[in-house]
Amino acid sequence: MSTLTIEERLTFIVTEEETSANEFSCDVNTGLTSYPKSLPFVHFYDHTGSQLFEKICELPEYYLTRAETNILTIYVDEIISQFPKEITLVELGSGSAKKTRILIEAFLQGEGLSCYTPIDISRQMLEESSYELLKTYTDLEITAVAAHYDEGLNQLKSEGDQTKLITWLGSSIGNLDRPEAAKVLTRIQELIGPNDRLLIGIDLRKDKAILEKAYDDEQGVTAEFNLNLLTRINRELGGNFDLDTFHHEARYNEKIGRIEMYLTSSCEQKVFIEELNLDVSFTENEEIHTESSYKYSLEDINELAKTAGFYVEKQYFDPEKHFSINIFAPIT
Ligand code: AVJ
Repeated sequence: MSTLTIEERLTFIVTEEETSANEFSCDVNTGLTSYPKSLPFVHFYDHTGSQLFEKICELPEYYLTRAETNILTIYVDEIISQFPKEITLVELGSGSAKKTRILIEAFLQGEGLSCYTPIDISRQMLEESSYELLKTYTDLEITAVAAHYDEGLNQLKSEGDQTKLITWLGSSIGNLDRPEAAKVLTRIQELIGPNDRLLIGIDLRKDKAILEKAYDDEQGVTAEFNLNLLTRINRELGGNFDLDTFHHEARYNEKIGRIEMYLTSSCEQKVFIEELNLDVSFTENEEIHTESSYKYSLEDINELAKTAGFYVEKQYFDPEKHFSINIFAPIT
């Protein structure tokens, strides 16, 4: 058991406070004055939005989290046996870090974890999850980084010469379009060494009905998550969106292989946003595109890896083959 206190085992690095208020108002201004209208998905995750997302992960229709947890549970020993004794575990978009516990626990049991480095845009989530982890695992040391992916990735350079396992779970990569996804992975590839690995959870292309239900659940939690964007605009920018006149929609675009989420105006109307001094007109059934969630075939995954200078070293699936966990190794 470590003799260090929780505070002594935690290093907290803040590169930038979440997404700034200014960024939010700029994005809203740009998105709602464009045609077609859109809002960037990053703004889902204020505190309420993050809590709603945690709720989504437990929905019966949202198979992603369960499938990924199953894969990790089944294959954890096989996964960690591929790594040397002492490694540094870096996690992109750590969120509540619930699933990561499976890996952390296994590495700690093998005495093979020297540091856990979660990187997340939500400082509050990062603080909460770090303290929870340090309370549970009294030998664990954490260097937490509150930052966007790109800034957080710089942290990879300053990590010592230990072998690194970088995890990117939950199919978070799905929010990026395919070229953007390849770009982020290329960046990672350039920053890591030949023995380092990327463990990445990627949701698979599948039946349209399963996908559309996962993004439009019976209880309406995903609808609430989506509509929370308008609540945010009302509260933070003095908007007067009438939430009863907008509804949530999720459609699978089979050709592109992505779920598209929209907020649709049920009638012709005008909305005023005080802080932007902006009038926004909607026609009946006009949509705001709020999220894309890309799905991958095995071929898509191979291509993604290759484009970014990786190859797929290992691949694990849940029994229903809904989801994949991939270990990408750099091509040397
Ligand atoms: C966090 C991007 C993986 O796309 O499945 C869940 C976000 N949106 N339900 C996903 C989300 C609606 C989620 N990711």
